[in-house]
Amino acid sequence: MNSFEPKVVSVPHGLIPQGAEKYFEHLQVFQEMMMRYNCAILEVQTKLQVLNNDMSVRYSRNPIAFIKTRIKSPQSIAEKLQRRGLEISEHSMLENLNDVAGVRVICSFIDDIYEIAEMLARQSDIKVLQIKDYIKNPKDNGYRSYHMIIEIPVFFSDKTMDMRVEIQIRTIAMDFWASLEHELKYKKDIDWSKEIGEELKICAETINQTDRKMMAIRNHIDEHKNEN
Ligand code: GTP
Ligand code: MG
Repeated sequence: MNSFEPKVVSVPHGLIPQGAEKYFEHLQVFQEMMMRYNCAILEVQTKLQVLNNDMSVRYSRNPIAFIKTRIKSPQSIAEKLQRRGLEISEHSMLENLNDVAGVRVICSFIDDIYEIAEMLARQSDIKVLQIKDYIKNPKDNGYRSYHMIIEIPVFFSDKTMDMRVEIQIRTIAMDFWASLEHELKYKKDIDWSKEIGEELKICAETINQTDRKMMAIRNHIDEHKNEN
């Protein structure tokens, strides 16, 4: 079979997410914007995969364990704009929200997080708009992650647009903690007591210590590898 035979190119599904018509007047415009955010996610995802492949061949390691992506739902977009007292419209979304397109990068080790963040920031087409380092400065509840808001040019058929993407970089263990904490926070039927919060914070500290121990073990193994 000729490998150049045309293949079906996959098009992202659900470009008009359910419920959009409840909040947004110009559905066509909304759909177009969601398509653009989706494309921005693809660009970032490809950059991350390139970095991972490069490091895997040159240094025999894979800093990225896996990547998750998401587009904010129309309801969340509308609620966030409303919460901030802003107009609910396609234009207002583009102007005011940084997290419509989200990419979560899950790394094995803490130092991989900083390496990935720096390699992205160094790329000439990426503009870093904001950094929140919740690893150096964890939140009161124990949350840890490295957050970046970046702007990336995406080349469409008729124009180039700078699109904003929120990138969250964390270890597997931090992701485990954040997922559970998020789930508990939104479970209305459980009594979110002070004790649960404190227990979770202790888990976050334990996870942090374990993350650091794992990094030390890896360094130890690497040193031995070099000696041999
Ligand atoms: P949002 O308005 O919620 O998007 O947050 P923000 O603009 O203050 O930005 P920040 O960088 O603090 O948080 C962005 C995202 O990080 C959130 O939407 C969550 O996905 C995640 N996040 C931040 N804090 C926590 C937390 O305490 N627990 C969990 N599970 N996730 C968090
Ligand atoms: Mg958000």
